[in-house]
Amino acid sequence: MLTIVGSGKVGGDAALFSALRKADESILLLDVVDGLPQGEAMDISHMLSEQGIDVEVRGSNNYADMVGSDVVVVVAGSGRKPGMTRMDLLKINAGIVRSVAENIKKYAPDSIIVPVTNPLDPMAYVTYQVSGFARDRVLGMGNMLDLSRFRQFIHEVVNYSRKSIRALVIGEHGEQMLPLPRFSSVSGIPLQDLLTAAEMDDLVSKTRGVAAKVIELKGATVHAPGNAISTIVESIMTNRRDVIPVSAYLDGEYGHSNVSIGVPAVVGRNGIEHIVELDLNEAERRVFDAGVQNVRSAISALPL
Ligand code: LAC
Repeated sequence: MLTIVGSGKVGGDAALFSALRKADESILLLDVVDGLPQGEAMDISHMLSEQGIDVEVRGSNNYADMVGSDVVVVVAGSGRKPGMTRMDLLKINAGIVRSVAENIKKYAPDSIIVPVTNPLDPMAYVTYQVSGFARDRVLGMGNMLDLSRFRQFIHEVVNYSRKSIRALVIGEHGEQMLPLPRFSSVSGIPLQDLLTAAEMDDLVSKTRGVAAKVIELKGATVHAPGNAISTIVESIMTNRRDVIPVSAYLDGEYGHSNVSIGVPAVVGRNGIEHIVELDLNEAERRVFDAGVQNVRSAISALPL
């Protein structure tokens, strides 16, 4: 069973996309707001009936209902308002994520947790520490969303099918995120063979700033995060072993330990099967390490 804690717009979209992908046969939406998860589940179920998709979607306000979950997605918490950074949500959301992690430990001790709540990397770290789960079973969704934006910007410049575009973003899901043109391509053609250095720098800059732009225009980002969550859920539930950038607790990888940050990982039925270490150049390493520093500063401000 897939449980999604937080039945707001992103949580509802994650349930909808996961159901449409048939990632699992049973989805539970949880929320503290009476009626919200139940209404969301009904609305999605009506859509599934028309589609003829037999995924059962339920809503509940009771954490005890997540017993037996294979995967628990954590979207609960406040989202950014226009002009805020993700890190501005640190204090507000840390307490919420801690409480959710304690309930997951109690009711779904064998599950895999996918933190989404921002600031993502510090919240993934809190989830890892509070749950006490093996690090392979805590994988935060952040860079999967970033790379979907990077792919869109590449598509807009090269004007080739989105299907042909492979892109990678790692590091902090925040101001120091690291889109990687060197590890991106169109049908295997390295991006640097198609675009100038200035064009690639522009795509990197746009990828970093576009979420704030969407929030400024429509008040929140919804469909891209909801979809990115379902990609990770699907790779776990179907043991697809995709290489996906997820926020993982590092134990020496990339030269860092005791911190959670976005790295490429093989994602299957047991969560993170293997962290892929890229040979970053000096400039890439600088940005990656700056992101690690941002996350460490945030973590040090938390009462863990
Ligand atoms: C975003 C939020 C989910 O990047 O961090 O849209």
